[in-house]
Amino acid sequence: MLARPIVFGNWKMHGLREQALALAGALADRAPRLTGTLGIFPPFTVLHEVARRIQASALWLGGQDCHDRREGPFTGCISAWMLKDAGCRAVILGHSERRRGLGEDDAWVRRKAEAAIASGLLVVLCIGESEEEWQAGRRQEVLARQLAGSLPEGANAANLVVAYEPVWAIGTGRTPRPEEIAEIHLWLRGQLGRLLADGERVALLYGGSVKAANAGAIMAMEGVDGVLVGGASLDAEEFWRIYRAGGGA
Ligand code: 13P
Repeated sequence: MLARPIVFGNWKMHGLREQALALAGALADRAPRLTGTLGIFPPFTVLHEVARRIQASALWLGGQDCHDRREGPFTGCISAWMLKDAGCRAVILGHSERRRGLGEDDAWVRRKAEAAIASGLLVVLCIGESEEEWQAGRRQEVLARQLAGSLPEGANAANLVVAYEPVWAIGTGRTPRPEEIAEIHLWLRGQLGRLLADGERVALLYGGSVKAANAGAIMAMEGVDGVLVGGASLDAEEFWRIYRAGGGA
């Protein structure tokens, strides 16, 4: 079981070496020990160096994607085993920026997640509805389909975390109300309970425009085990404040 709160920072396509090492270093220096779980997900190119910079800290390191095979003729791709080799403990999969922007479907995400689990990485599986789906009242239908379709074989509460990220909340400054997030998480927990033997114990994160100012209210809700942060994770002070707002020390 990961210690709560779980606060993960998805750097997306940000971080040249100097900036990445400064950011990772500032966090590592604050986190020789942690009561919760704080992790960063930098771009592939800096993973190895960041791993070395944070090795004396309690920070988790993860990658933002992986291929579904161990190795082979797949130009430009990175395998889960390569991420492990670079010092990662986790990988984000199924992010809407890859599902929508790069055409990844549920089955593909599931294969990647199965490879990640086989390699020994924790999978952070992202799901979320679009604005049109939300407004059409199709949120649960979309989430149920994504969950059933992309949940890897062999998943359990020790190797899987699910991140609920409504597409319309990512990078927009808009979020569902905390009560609404709690309601969806409760429903997701029920779905996971039906799909996996220990599904009710799978950690659930919320993602989408999380800042220090709203993180406390979101993480105070029952059923919210933590947050997946984009933009605000690029500022060490702000990211640390988010972790603290969730009760982490
Ligand atoms: P923002 O926090 O920038 O809205 O991004 C959320 C996200 O996509 C995390 O994976």
